[in-house]
Amino acid sequence: MPPPEPLRENVVRVEAPGHRFTLLATPGGDFLGADDAGDLAVLREADDRVVWEEIAGGYRHVGTGQHVEAKAGASGDRLLTWRGHAVGGDGCPGARPTPFRPVRGPDRLPSEYLRTFRERGWVCLPAVLDADTVDGLQRVAGCGPWSARTHDRGVSALDQHAAVARASAEPVSLWLTRRYMGTDEIRFAHPPSFAVLDRDDGERDVQGWHSDFPYLWGIDRRVGAGRIPELRTGDMVLGVQRNICVTDFTRGNGATRFKLGSHRRNEGPPPDWGLGVDFARPGHRKRHGLPYGGPDADVIEAPAGSVLLFDARTWHRAGLNATDGKRAAILQAVTPPWIMPFADSGAAFKTFLASSPWTEITDRERRELESLLVYEIVGPRGRQAITVDRELTERRGVNAGTGAP
Ligand SMILES: [Fe+2]
Repeated sequence: MPPPEPLRENVVRVEAPGHRFTLLATPGGDFLGADDAGDLAVLREADDRVVWEEIAGGYRHVGTGQHVEAKAGASGDRLLTWRGHAVGGDGCPGARPTPFRPVRGPDRLPSEYLRTFRERGWVCLPAVLDADTVDGLQRVAGCGPWSARTHDRGVSALDQHAAVARASAEPVSLWLTRRYMGTDEIRFAHPPSFAVLDRDDGERDVQGWHSDFPYLWGIDRRVGAGRIPELRTGDMVLGVQRNICVTDFTRGNGATRFKLGSHRRNEGPPPDWGLGVDFARPGHRKRHGLPYGGPDADVIEAPAGSVLLFDARTWHRAGLNATDGKRAAILQAVTPPWIMPFADSGAAFKTFLASSPWTEITDRERRELESLLVYEIVGPRGRQAITVDRELTERRGVNAGTGAP
């Protein structure tokens, strides 16, 4: 079978790095760093202050140049010493020694990534997830060594394996998303969901060009319109799309097609590129052929375990898989908390609470998932968690379903 679409896009290849930094996590999952005064401290956010470089006998703090000595503890943990004193779980020297866990860090400083993100509207942390996490994600997706399995769409992905929560709480990409959006309060607009793409058969329906949630330009029923008006919103960012590469993403296996930089236009993709709203109609591909795939479009290739962040306004569409291996990603639309979500994440959080993966993750990961998935009304009665009300939904008679993002 010939390739289902001509491969003519501009390829942007993000390579797996040869060198990367280390984060040192407490048993609760927070990070040892140096605060603004240069003292050791345990910090909740993965910014430059928590970045360490492994050196002989310990770690060097990249920002301040301070060293901690490390001795191997149980199950890969490290007992740390700073200026002759054991480092405790609160980062204070002289306290009871606490085991710290070395965690795979980024290959560049978070602040460098942020600069790139702001300049280009997208950034990719290549292979930032460790091998165990990638294996867990591939097991859930039914790809890679787990190809004999089929992804189960009937059970929330978070409930299927702790790797989904771990990947969702990857700390550097969350910090970048918060800073790019200009708010600490970010939410997932729908529960983490898998997109698994197998070989294209030359006939099946495909996705057209669109901007992601909450804009949905090119997707809404009215061509050219979306949920957010095409206004000059300036620096205000209403959505970041966070795609976690569960497998390698290559041009041949259906890596996402982009028009990089198009977020700056504050408008949807051109109709002659083939919009999502058109390709959502069954049989559209058979009648009209494929959406645009020429040299004005880009493909970002990245290794499994990468986290790709892009401004949700960026025009894009799924590629077509011309290989026998499945291509899989976790899709996460991230918005400020005052944007109405795309699906009820609170309900998914409740089932996650009762699942076994909830017991297998750190306190930090639990805190992040709760904050990302639970929406609240903040008002005279304080903070109140909200979710879908079945009675009111039935009364309105509008429960037609929204489908997957
Ligand atoms: Fe999309």
